[in-house]
Amino acid sequence: MKVGFYYQGSDLMVDGVPLRSIARQHGTPIYVYSGGIIAQNYRRIASQFAKMDAMIAYSVKSNSSLAILKLLKNEGAAFDIVSGGELERVRKVGVKGDRIIFAGVGKTKDEMRVALAAGVKEFNLESEAEAHRLNEVAKEMGRIAPVAIRVNPDVDAKTHKYISTGKAENKFGVSMQRAIALGKDIRTTLKNLNLQGLHTHIGSQILDSSIHPRLVKKMVGYTETFMRETGAQLTALDFGGGFGIAYEKGQKPLDLKPFAKALAPELKRLGLTLRLEPGRSIIGNSGVLLTEVQYIKQGDKKTFVIFDASMTELIRPTLYEAHHEIQPVTKRRGKMQALDFVGPVCESTDFIAKDRMAVLPHQGDVLAIMDAGAYGFVMASNYNTRPRPAEVLVVNGKAKLVRKRDTFEDIVRNETF
Ligand code: LLP
Repeated sequence: MKVGFYYQGSDLMVDGVPLRSIARQHGTPIYVYSGGIIAQNYRRIASQFAKMDAMIAYSVKSNSSLAILKLLKNEGAAFDIVSGGELERVRKVGVKGDRIIFAGVGKTKDEMRVALAAGVKEFNLESEAEAHRLNEVAKEMGRIAPVAIRVNPDVDAKTHKYISTGKAENKFGVSMQRAIALGKDIRTTLKNLNLQGLHTHIGSQILDSSIHPRLVKKMVGYTETFMRETGAQLTALDFGGGFGIAYEKGQKPLDLKPFAKALAPELKRLGLTLRLEPGRSIIGNSGVLLTEVQYIKQGDKKTFVIFDASMTELIRPTLYEAHHEIQPVTKRRGKMQALDFVGPVCESTDFIAKDRMAVLPHQGDVLAIMDAGAYGFVMASNYNTRPRPAEVLVVNGKAKLVRKRDTFEDIVRNETF
């Protein structure tokens, strides 16, 4: 069976299923994921690093649908989480603590307690204050918390400024210099912490394949200095995620080979294991958002195609000026023209694409907003009291509704008047 999104005649298909039949059965807007692509992506990344002792921890924030977490657990993935809520999600699908790493700049005491009780593999510490708090919580519980220090290496990921995390001005991690002081502190006074490794993540949607080899060089040199100065014998290095995918025609996804090649001999030499936290590169191109055209509106300067999907289902174009291809679920002939694809939300920022060359669709047509698997549904909101969309996962040619659309009752459940 063919895997992924492709045309069969004039029908856009996913893993053998026509998308129009999913839209007809479950309505729009709706997210649809290809289980085949998710598995393929996971296996491709895992195989790149197979010769190293690597833990591939899927970054749950990119898409936390329980059905997808379950699929990835069955593939052998570990999980990178950033909140108590994400911890509950992965535990709900049966993930064990030693397959979970916990990151995030603002972990609360409660989150620390639950994560310690669950026996997570590692806390990625983001500050001195967090290290002190975790030490206290672990002490109260009579536990030793396994930790890594997130280092901010001041390396430019050359990506959109809103998804860049490894520069000195970003809130993430501890500077290289301060991390050494923190490492000494952990070794000498924070007795309920066990320092196992260093962590870094410099940004998301990285496409330049020279960045990771450079990062490896910087981090490896630094790790040696760190171990020498703190006396710590580390066991793991975590390089985070951030591997870019192709959103636009002509773009190429990040080539992981130069990264793996630079990394392998260094890890071996230092006797370190590897952790990675890919999100988008596993889930991004596995999902589409299906939307129905409500109206065609001719403005004085522009032609607007008004969708039933909006920034409340997919905020990436609005927030990061992100590009998503738009494909008809049933092909139409016609000449190309510049169109603005917009949603019904009362904001000028509510658009999916502007000045996009495409064949003018008709009212009632269903279109697919491509590569919407990562940071799509998870960033959806109920703004304008819009229900968050339904989700369908296709596995082995079978489409399954894995999340129902919100109802009005779901939205107002916690309100009183
Ligand atoms: N590890 C850490 C510590 C992270 O902060 C992130 C993403 C990842 C791993 C996974 O990165 P990925 O492999 O998915 O690039 N909402 C934005 C992206 C935010 C990324 C946040 N951190 C977007 O839609 O582009």
